[in-house]
Amino acid sequence: MNSSDLRTSFLEFFESKGHTIVPSASLLPTSPNLLFTNAGMNQFVPYFLGERVPVHRRIADTQKCIRAGGKHNDLEDVGFDSYHHTFFEMLGNWSLGDYFKAEALRWSWELLTQVWGMPKERLYVTVYDPAPGAPAEFDHEAWEIWAEILSADGLDPHLHIKKNPDCFWMMGDTGPCGPCSEMHLDTTEANDTNGALVDANSPYCMELWNNVFIQFNALEDGSFVPLKERHVDTGLGFERVAGIMATSKGFSNYSLPPSNYDSDLFTDLFDFLSGLCDHRYQQTIPDDRDHMNEVETKDCAFRVLADHARTLCCAIADGILPGNEGRNYVLRRILRRGVLWANRLNLRAGSLEKLVGPVVEKLGPVFPELSQQVDVIERVIASEEAAFERTIDRGLVMLDRLTDEASSEISGKDAFTLYDTHGFPLDLTQMVARERELTVDTEGFSQEMEQQRERARAGQKRIAVTVVDSDTDAKGSTRFVGYEADHLSNVEARITDIVYDRDKIFLVTDRTPFYAELGGQIGDRGSATVEGRELRISNTVYDVGGRCLHELASAPEIGSDWKPRSASISLSVDEGRRREIQRHHTATHVLHWALREVLGRHVRQAGSLVSQSRLRFDFSHFEQPSANQMREIETLANERAIENAGVTWFEVPFHEKPDDSLAFFGDKYGDIVRVVDIGGWSRELCGGTHVTATGEIGLIKVVGESAIAAGIRRIEAVVGATSLQLVEENFGLVQRFAQRLSCSVSELDQRFGNLLQQKGNLEKEIRGFRKKDVTELANLLATRASNRSGIPWMAKSVNLPDPGEMRNLAVQLSRKFDEHVIILGGVFKGKVNVLALCSEKAIASGFQAGNLVREITQRLGGNGGGKPDFAMGGGPDAGNLDAVLEDI
Ligand code: SER
Repeated sequence: MNSSDLRTSFLEFFESKGHTIVPSASLLPTSPNLLFTNAGMNQFVPYFLGERVPVHRRIADTQKCIRAGGKHNDLEDVGFDSYHHTFFEMLGNWSLGDYFKAEALRWSWELLTQVWGMPKERLYVTVYDPAPGAPAEFDHEAWEIWAEILSADGLDPHLHIKKNPDCFWMMGDTGPCGPCSEMHLDTTEANDTNGALVDANSPYCMELWNNVFIQFNALEDGSFVPLKERHVDTGLGFERVAGIMATSKGFSNYSLPPSNYDSDLFTDLFDFLSGLCDHRYQQTIPDDRDHMNEVETKDCAFRVLADHARTLCCAIADGILPGNEGRNYVLRRILRRGVLWANRLNLRAGSLEKLVGPVVEKLGPVFPELSQQVDVIERVIASEEAAFERTIDRGLVMLDRLTDEASSEISGKDAFTLYDTHGFPLDLTQMVARERELTVDTEGFSQEMEQQRERARAGQKRIAVTVVDSDTDAKGSTRFVGYEADHLSNVEARITDIVYDRDKIFLVTDRTPFYAELGGQIGDRGSATVEGRELRISNTVYDVGGRCLHELASAPEIGSDWKPRSASISLSVDEGRRREIQRHHTATHVLHWALREVLGRHVRQAGSLVSQSRLRFDFSHFEQPSANQMREIETLANERAIENAGVTWFEVPFHEKPDDSLAFFGDKYGDIVRVVDIGGWSRELCGGTHVTATGEIGLIKVVGESAIAAGIRRIEAVVGATSLQLVEENFGLVQRFAQRLSCSVSELDQRFGNLLQQKGNLEKEIRGFRKKDVTELANLLATRASNRSGIPWMAKSVNLPDPGEMRNLAVQLSRKFDEHVIILGGVFKGKVNVLALCSEKAIASGFQAGNLVREITQRLGGNGGGKPDFAMGGGPDAGNLDAVLEDI
């Protein structure tokens, strides 16, 4: 059985037990608290909690998982041993309120021993036995079920069942959880450990399968609330089983140490790598990772490259691109780690890209998104590798200097500068340092990093609010009532607090139609009437407690002792401005949709700004979109605008949001989210305000596209009144051009072409004249050269159009005399320029161009100098040039 047969046989086995096979969920988790999908059960959480009703109660799949960064971080171990991975598949079967322990355990035993033929006497299982104070009780039920299963197969339950206090599985600190039961296979050659290696971190006895009996919901206060229904969640390590099966030749030979990397999932990639470099994988595992021999190093590099290439391909196919923050940064680190290890095989940047084909060939049949996006994956990896190679080159220049200077250690400060300014990772600095027998002060590096974080924290823009004595509840958040267009003026509310911050005054109310700056949309402006007095509101922002702060425009006139007697207030938003903001906001969603249509599904929001006069949208994409693509994006967006599609919104619990709705990951979403739907083709989680139909947007005009970071692009556009104004201005400009050239607008292009051609011809002619002028001048001056100590000498002021011509003249003159001292001066744009040329013999006779220019320019109130053979300078005193040259 190869790995593919193994996967299929798992799924077919559970299909035969009434399970529906579902596709793997995306590696981009729906839970905002996770960096990556890291377990098969992630996608089933809402069903466990009873928030969603399942269509199928028995499900099985293979789930793509990444454990890197965050809580489960295996990244730094990958390569050095036989079983750590950043990417792996978790085979799983689920009962959503259907079967429970007996079926789950019996089936897992049946599959391992009868279908796959694992030797029963090598299998050990665990059951939960809580430590004092831990949740739930000793899992008698699981023990009894196992005892029956094992006894029937002639095994001693007391030997093969291990009690374990850690067998309680939790996804995180909160959420669905329950006792679990693991299955371990002893792969020691003699099989005489009697289960002593179970849960002892031994590569010879690995946990293969975990059966979790989900029964509780862990709450933040530390309590465990029983769930309405009981569920089963199992996770089987696919690479582990495939690896052991390969090493042990179908579970029959235990003479070699087991390794996940022995299965065809990896060996096919290793064979490909051997074709790129001069190494064949030799299955060595280092005893000491700091002192590896050459073969160990190269084997380690093979494992790293194969693992990281799989991770990169699968993550990118799911729209996670290398970047600067969060999960994107983790991915960038994985890629960079891969490039560094490739260097140890003497492979240059580009080798990870080469691995994309073989990875997709292996995994594409199971995860079709890989085959569909192979081009995108290759291009993303290629551009990241190239960017990192440039980083390495820049950093190496500085490192060369540092290692020349360093006695035995590179300081933390220098290592930090390399990291911060040159993007040179610490592990790379350490690697280079090691090669040069130097150490790196990592503690100093951490201190520098911490200091920088402090600086960043201190520099954060914060509104330090000082709450005046208030007789209302200052803590309650403000209710926003301004989504509807007919509800923006004369909204009655109550003042709950007045906040003074230096020379600013903010009003806090219990409700408001004013949108406070959030999610890129800027805050509203407008007016408030308090006790008959109209006050202008110049901005609206949130404070940390979710209160809307209405900033008063004329705080100085109002004065810090202002305090109305009545809490009643009437609020009116500047509706014209708000409408323009809304146009730009809806246009942002439309452009986001168009970007994904044209550039691909990997495009995701990375930031945005929506104001009344422009929009800015940052998105993940690995290269500059072509001019054609940009045109297509703008055209598509405008087609959608004039289609006048309806814009609607609804609120749903986060877990019930439609699957296709785009969320700005990195944002924290509450339990209830607002989904903005445009025409059924665009759905985004968004708290902002929008037009009611896309026709209101008007013309969408893209005014800029640029790179703002590696893998992040920025598009800028204007709509509504601003795009109208822009079109009018540009149209007017074109009309004026046509008038001045006495032609029609349609003839402009041709006219300009002709004019440019004429200009070019004239310039060429002028250059010819000048050349002739300079040649004639050189001939003339040559006749006037004097002679000092046998060397032709001249010091003249000349009248030429620019200093470049003066240099030409000097060169022509120097060619006329083998030996010479030539000094020329001229006035250009009111300033004097002087240059001097001295031949070899002139220098030997004591003339120095540098000294001559220095003396002349000093006498002209300026400065200059240079080498003995050539020097230049200048000065302000143009009136004195002739006299000084005469004198010299
Ligand atoms: N949730 C369990 C795990 O991840 C079993 O699937 O180990």
